[in-house]
Amino acid sequence: MEILVTGGAGFIGSNFVHYLTDRTDAHVTVLDALTYAGNRESLAAIPDHRLTFVHGDVADAGLVAELAGAADAVVHFAAESHNDNSLANPRPFVDTNLIGTFTLLEAARRTGVRYHHISTDEVYGDLELNDPQRFDESTAYNPSSPYSATKAGSDLLVRAWIRSFGVAGTISNCSNNYGPYQHIEKFIPRQITNVLAGLRPKLYGSGANVRDWIHAEDHSSAVWTILQHGRIGETYLIGADGERSNRDVLSLILTLMGEAPDAFDHVADRPGHDLRYAIDSTKLRTELGWAPRYRDFEAGLAATIDWYRQHERWWRDTKAKTEAFYSARGQ
Ligand code: NAD
Ligand code: DAU
Repeated sequence: MEILVTGGAGFIGSNFVHYLTDRTDAHVTVLDALTYAGNRESLAAIPDHRLTFVHGDVADAGLVAELAGAADAVVHFAAESHNDNSLANPRPFVDTNLIGTFTLLEAARRTGVRYHHISTDEVYGDLELNDPQRFDESTAYNPSSPYSATKAGSDLLVRAWIRSFGVAGTISNCSNNYGPYQHIEKFIPRQITNVLAGLRPKLYGSGANVRDWIHAEDHSSAVWTILQHGRIGETYLIGADGERSNRDVLSLILTLMGEAPDAFDHVADRPGHDLRYAIDSTKLRTELGWAPRYRDFEAGLAATIDWYRQHERWWRDTKAKTEAFYSARGQ
């Protein structure tokens, strides 16, 4: 099987490529523009005969048509993925998340290739802290940020291309991922690398905001399950029942790293900051028999801390620039 993975040099895409090459016979072609978020090193351990790397843009129609035409399936991870960047400069989010997805869908329409679209729970907006409801496949779209609005728009394009043009597509909306190879702009690796670099961790606002954490390997196994067994035209929510407040996650990181649990700074809140995400993944679990493997968040977090400790070369060069961006925003 030949699988085209867009964004395969990013956090979740590279975890998925490792998952495929470790556990299946598939040959993988990665299409990645190597933006600030892409890192070729994240794929360095994969043998040459299992992987072809193509440096290019998902909005390049000719390139995308050629690669899609040679694949049995396309899994589309490539995106501008960071909310704070979308507040500072939304344009690349429109270009990649909307035009890039449109370009892939046109290629899928022409070639008939199986298409799986990677999306996020953020398309549903946010929940109150005490709301007993969680997001499921019937929740109405209500995105808050430029990032989540472009992801919501891309999901709607996929639905329209499935219905109007018969694209053989599926969509998954996943909650917050953690694990190795995540860019240090994101919450968990930012705080881990702050401690490793001798900087104080930074918590937005009160830190009461809740995210629903899932290990990136569990996201990969869910996507592989949907690719093999999902029903065409369907959406599946992916989550591992991992709700925690940011304050609790940060205190746990500090404790696991041998620091006082309150050794952090409160900084400016994110404008429009979503309060809580929570996923009900019953459909994926009952219809397709998927279950997460990483059920112990503390153990998964400890392993992630070890990974950043042992891979300083992977992140060190980006630390100063990442922190300069935040400090200019009072964060
Ligand atoms: P990331 O920012 O770590 O990686 C994105 C990758 O896409 C990078 O390798 C980048 O170089 C590449 N890319 C960006 N623009 C491109 C373009 N125009 N053409 C080709 N490649 C391009 O992102 P991530 O956190 O790994 O997220 C991957 C996908 O998963 C995204 O679609 C995101 O919306 C979705 N998602 C992320 C999370 C999360 O917790 N990180 C949760 C749910 C869904
Ligand atoms: O829910 C899925 C989404 O999860 C994905 O679609 C996004 O691509 C991914 O980036 C992530 O979005 P969040 O905005 O939830 O993730 P982030 O790591 O940026 O922030 C997590 C929480 O931590 C959020 O409430 C903001 C807060 N935060 C973040 C940073 C960077 C802090 O308190 N301090 C920080 O330094």
